[in-house]
Amino acid sequence: MKPTYLAPSLLAADFANLERDINMINASEADWFHVDIMDGVFVPNISFGFPVVKAITKHAKKTIDVHLMIVDPDRYITAFAELGSTNLTVHYEACTHLHRTLEAIKAEGMKAGVALNPHTPVHLLKDVIKDIDQVIIMSVNPGFGGQSFIENTYKKVRELKEMILNANASTLIEIDGGVTDQNAKKLLLSGADILVAGSFIFNANNPTETIKDLKKIMS
Ligand code: DX5
Ligand code: ZN
Repeated sequence: MKPTYLAPSLLAADFANLERDINMINASEADWFHVDIMDGVFVPNISFGFPVVKAITKHAKKTIDVHLMIVDPDRYITAFAELGSTNLTVHYEACTHLHRTLEAIKAEGMKAGVALNPHTPVHLLKDVIKDIDQVIIMSVNPGFGGQSFIENTYKKVRELKEMILNANASTLIEIDGGVTDQNAKKLLLSGADILVAGSFIFNANNPTETIKDLKKIMS
């Protein structure tokens, strides 16, 4: 079985107990930290900014997977590199010169990702697929945690996997939004490599056990 990664989304953490929740993930079987940045313009919500990201990277001991839901992401690439981001993902819909943006992210030593909104077709990435380290297929409309999974996602994952194989690329496929123990296995079988889960983990009675259960499903 190929390696797979579970990335709990800190958007669903208790911000008044952020250090506690980060340490819970550090000590758990989870693989990455997923960090959602929302600007209130690209999406109708504001999450948190640099001081909070700095506090997160100070305590987090695993890969920091930053998902920018912001307009004009090029302005902040260097800042996120300096804060310790491992992966930086921008939205296809927010980039006029996507290839240039991807090169700028990699020049800062980070893995470069592209996220696709539910309405954005996978085929639009055909000419840059070899330049992308990871594609986030949004399985909800970005902006909020706790929304229901959009079923059309499976089809998009299969299409993207085919494109990656045809291009002989090493791009990973990440799924973000509404991930639970009910859809995790089918997503992996469709071609996904990374699953983000926010409310399913943090709203559970025992988040550490929930992470363990998800990892078992993913193995
Ligand atoms: C949505 C964010 C997601 C969100 C996922 O805009 O990009 O990362 O935190 O949360 P759940 O798992 O609750 O759908
Ligand atoms: Zn996200």
